[in-house]
Amino acid sequence: MELFQFETIARSGMFNRVCKAETIAEGGFRLVIADAQLIVLAWPENGEIKAFQGVCPHANIPLEEADFDGTVLTCPKHFWNWDLNTGQPAGEPHECALAEYPVKVEDGVVYIDTEGVTPLFADQ
Ligand code: FES
Repeated sequence: MELFQFETIARSGMFNRVCKAETIAEGGFRLVIADAQLIVLAWPENGEIKAFQGVCPHANIPLEEADFDGTVLTCPKHFWNWDLNTGQPAGEPHECALAEYPVKVEDGVVYIDTEGVTPLFADQ
């Protein structure tokens, strides 16, 4: 009985509570921290809430000053950009995607699962 309870707790513990869903608006993004990882939490227009690595894969700088037009996130340093519906590059001059974290919203609270996800970085 005790072993069963431990397994249940371990499985349900992979998702980290990060914020209330009302703190992010459609077409907006914010940075959050889950399990000591910096994460971009975004709600693309006409899409679903998504979570991606919060550091730029080009030079490992936080994306807190990035520009978001409701679909595309652009790093202010060298203007690499990504479609936040998918995390895939939105244009030149790079081919490095953002690592995506599983995210769910329950009872108005956003949860992110960081298990097994690590930020991606471009070859230097
Ligand atoms: S550091 Fe982000 S594009 Fe270069």
